[in-house]
Amino acid sequence: MTKQQILDAYAFRHACKAFDSDKKISDDDFELILETGRLSPSSFGFEPWQFLVMQNPVLREKLLPLVCGQQQVPTASHLLITLSRRGDSLKPGSDYLTGFMQDVQKLPAEIVKMKGDFYALFHRELFQLAGDERKIADWAAKQTYLPMANMMTTAALLGVDSCPIEGFKQQEVENFLAQEIELDLTTFGVAHITAFGYRKAEPARAKTRRAAADVVQWY
Ligand SMILES: Cc1cc2nc3c(=O)[nH]c(=O)nc-3n(C[C@H](O)[C@H](O)[C@H](O)COP(=O)(O)O)c2cc1C
Repeated sequence: MTKQQILDAYAFRHACKAFDSDKKISDDDFELILETGRLSPSSFGFEPWQFLVMQNPVLREKLLPLVCGQQQVPTASHLLITLSRRGDSLKPGSDYLTGFMQDVQKLPAEIVKMKGDFYALFHRELFQLAGDERKIADWAAKQTYLPMANMMTTAALLGVDSCPIEGFKQQEVENFLAQEIELDLTTFGVAHITAFGYRKAEPARAKTRRAAADVVQWY
């Protein structure tokens, strides 16, 4: 891949407002998109996310008023709702994190102890999350933007369009998922939605960004 091809993919990616609902992303391409989300980095490697691929048209119709009528939701080839972890499972010493370090990260007992102690220090002193549920949930949610970005870039490299979506009634979407798919709201919240598909029309406006010199300072 050339440098120009990388830049072309970033220029191609735009917040697509409506997709051609007749065009479907191949299973192969969508699996690759998801895989680059799964491989994304996270703080301590704890992956505080889950990905829901929402393909059921009835559920998508019900979602529409909760996403302010945004047409990406019914027209997307694939609609991804990213959940972020919250609550007790993220607290230092939780059974969930201990199990994660043992079973997923395959760490030996002494490293689980060391890492757990450092995580507790991080919570208490470095980021001062301890005792503040909202801060802990926001810390986890921030991380979910990494898989989102990686998946949109992968999509663009494959010629697939996307749209990141935060324009939705967060609490209502969470309640909807609790009702429809029994989402456990003590453990997960909805971080954001990402729609993938093929553009119905070219973007209405050319991409604008601040000049590089206005964004980057070197010291
Ligand atoms: C976290 C986040 C949430 C966004 N939410 C929406 C949204 O709800 N609806 C929408 O059409 N675009 C949404 N956007 C797209 C931005 O408006 C868009 O990325 C920005 O204007 C830059 O344009 P470009 O992506 O086409 O280059 C969102 C972008 C981000 C990063």
